[in-house]
Amino acid sequence: MKLFLDTADVNFIRSTYSMINADGVITNPSLISRSQSKYGSAVLDLKVIGRFIDEHGGRLHVQTVGRSYEDIMKDASFISEEFGSRTVVRIPVSREGLAAMSSLSSAGVEVAGTAVYTFSQALLAVKAGAGQLTVYAGRMEENGLDYQALVRLLKKAVPDVFVLVASIHSHETAERAAEAGADGLAYKPELLFSEVGSLLVSRTMDGFAESWKNAYEIGKFEKI
Ligand code: G3P
Repeated sequence: MKLFLDTADVNFIRSTYSMINADGVITNPSLISRSQSKYGSAVLDLKVIGRFIDEHGGRLHVQTVGRSYEDIMKDASFISEEFGSRTVVRIPVSREGLAAMSSLSSAGVEVAGTAVYTFSQALLAVKAGAGQLTVYAGRMEENGLDYQALVRLLKKAVPDVFVLVASIHSHETAERAAEAGADGLAYKPELLFSEVGSLLVSRTMDGFAESWKNAYEIGKFEKI
């Protein structure tokens, strides 16, 4: 199972990526517009992240912004040239997106189909050359769609395609995506550590500390 960070927050990536041995970073225009790093510009932030991924390994998925074929192609060439050698061009699976994916993949550019909600949409993306798909689980759930069924079907029908589940809004969604066979999960910063800091974990640690202190008076190991 691969673990991606679903954020464009440069400071969060710097402090977390190696610690959790992450496999990559995915971003989209909304995430980029929300990140307010000291670098002050989306392009600069992405250059910093791209350089970081080049140095630390893994992949950086950067999404195109344009809606027309021409604009997606321009965005894609900018992304490929500017954001490092480990960058994957992430393209929403629209009709224009499919046309761009087809041209880019024929030219050897690595593309990921994103905003995937249905099997037919995913299949078209794969046929257009996408080796990776990003399924938006949370948004599917919120719209009454079954992301588990979609992930299962994709892993059966196109087993070699990397299925990344993003738009994860709860730990239950992450668990169900893993159960369905997702190849990777993309966590947002606010969700990633929310269970390791839970009350149950902290109460458990309080109990251990208390037992130790009761028996040995000091709350740590000491050389004897
Ligand atoms: O990469 C962003 C994707 O995960 C969408 O997330 O929370 O806006 O549905 P969300």
